[in-house]
Amino acid sequence: MALDHELVEEIKSRADIVDIISSYISVTKKGRNYFAVCPFHDDHNPSLSINKEKNIFKCFVCGTSGDVFGFVSKYEHITYEQAIRKVAEMINFDDPRLHEKVYARHVDENVVPLYKCISELQKFYEYSLLTDEGKIARDYLQNRKISKEQIEKFSIGYAPKDGKVSIDYLQKKGFSLKNIEDIGIALVKTQNMSDNNAGRLIFPIKDASGQVVGFSARRLVDNDDTKYVNSPETKIFSKGNVLYNMHNAKQFLKHDGYLYLVEGFMDVFALDAIGIHSVVGLMGTAMTKSNVEQLRRLNVEIRLCLDNDNAGQIAMMKIISLFDEAGVNYRLVSKVDEKFKDSDEILKNEGEEHLRLYVNSLVDPFNFALNFYEHTSPLGSIEDRKKVIKHFAPMLVNAKSKLEFNDYIYKLSKVTGFDANAIKDFVEDFKSVQSSKEAADEINFTGETRFTKQKIKRELRRLNMAEQMVLTNMLFHKEAVKYYEDNVKYFYNEIYRQIANFVVEYMSHNEKIDLTSLIDSIMTSSNENKDALVNEITLLGYTNESLYDKRAMDECMSVISEERQKLYERSMIEKALEGKPPEEQARLLNDYLKRTNSQKKGK
Ligand code: UTP
Ligand code: MN
Repeated sequence: MALDHELVEEIKSRADIVDIISSYISVTKKGRNYFAVCPFHDDHNPSLSINKEKNIFKCFVCGTSGDVFGFVSKYEHITYEQAIRKVAEMINFDDPRLHEKVYARHVDENVVPLYKCISELQKFYEYSLLTDEGKIARDYLQNRKISKEQIEKFSIGYAPKDGKVSIDYLQKKGFSLKNIEDIGIALVKTQNMSDNNAGRLIFPIKDASGQVVGFSARRLVDNDDTKYVNSPETKIFSKGNVLYNMHNAKQFLKHDGYLYLVEGFMDVFALDAIGIHSVVGLMGTAMTKSNVEQLRRLNVEIRLCLDNDNAGQIAMMKIISLFDEAGVNYRLVSKVDEKFKDSDEILKNEGEEHLRLYVNSLVDPFNFALNFYEHTSPLGSIEDRKKVIKHFAPMLVNAKSKLEFNDYIYKLSKVTGFDANAIKDFVEDFKSVQSSKEAADEINFTGETRFTKQKIKRELRRLNMAEQMVLTNMLFHKEAVKYYEDNVKYFYNEIYRQIANFVVEYMSHNEKIDLTSLIDSIMTSSNENKDALVNEITLLGYTNESLYDKRAMDECMSVISEERQKLYERSMIEKALEGKPPEEQARLLNDYLKRTNSQKKGK
């Protein structure tokens, strides 16, 4: 159940948006208006304006906007609903309706018992650590220098050797065998159903809100068993979506301005022990797209600190490409003369100062990659050395300044042995090839790369902008909703399409749109993307308050039709080209290009 609409309105009317925002960042008053340095982009001037009367904020540079809950939700990286509760807390507002549901965030009724069950189990593991049997785990922790405070902070536990004990416990607490299977610790089908984590040290894995979603269980003695047993994918756990310790790190990263990303649990504890609390664990070396997105949105410098061994360094090279593609702001920890493989070992063997020095040895991707090739990859043959230059060419083209460019060239020349001028020439050639590539791709008769990604991106952007304009209007004017139903009918952008469906639904039993109650109706639905939908609405919802303009809508509609037509033709031509001999492909493509070009000229 989402929160009662009236209650939300009441909290909103009591909360002073200027006060709330001031509790996070510093706000200054200019005339009747309030301004702040925007925390959602790299801002140097106060570009975020706050409208006290309307209870909204907007950044004029990055466009981020919303109401008081929107601000808190974005700043704290929590859902809109969690932000409502948070604001209520901040203004000391209490109401029984706020306590109706503990797991308000997870409206899906099916998973509520799973969250309860797994939380219960986590407490049981914590308790078991304190028992006589748990001594072996306590000794292990002491051996690894994990403090009492850390045991508590990270809710570390122990799973009794007899794997039936935890299952019996959960059953006594009223959970079904199905529940127990669904949290991923045992299979019902097996004969003596037993906890997979039995006899191991337990690291609970919590999501960004602090809710336990899975476990990683470490063996206590060095034998051939798997080092860590991880929870399988369940309805509430997907390893690729969680970064270990994010719920704690979240409270520090804005203030610190950075976030360390390390491989293992022990490394998180090591950094935590020396006072670096803004740290998360990747739990291995595999970085998912979802991880990258989550990190990018934090808007702080990511400090990539994977293991100092081969696997860790290769993983960092891969992550460089992922981060560059997504536009993440980051640097990497790199210290070539370091003997030990990870932060935990450095702390144990060389001490606190050394670890501090290590995590502060930060380099940019260029220097990291250069080190990598210099030390990890043999640069014997001329082909190997050429490969390195090729690899770096895009980075050189994108160098921020002439100084940086020359520095790169100098270093590359030192590592590869190529003459600096030869490298410069190569980069120049690369640049011109790159810019003519787009043109060349249009008339590519091999049928291989038929359309450049860039061109498609540009067209989609145009379509997207038109759709966004229509949608924004729909949030304010019922005429626009009608226009959408009669003319536009659907959006290509999935999020917009889903929002539009909600708006149309909403307007079928309301006279006027009220954004808060629209958001409410989305939050109470079982839509999978509801967080994304609500985020988008808060972003769009406060940008446009002008009058309804039919002509503007018509303009959007004509862009939409045009771009839809292109998408359609493209899919047709792709299909038509399949399996055709080259001459036939050339003829079809030529026809297609003539058609699209004459359309362009006709405009
Ligand atoms: P490492 O093998 O580097 O272990 O794996 P570690 O973190 O140094 O752990 P200790 O110091 O030996 O206790 C790094 C991370 O990869 C994941 C874990 O999250 C681990 O912290 N991992 C490793 C697994 O999930 N399963 C494994 O079997 C091994
Ligand atoms: Mn280790």
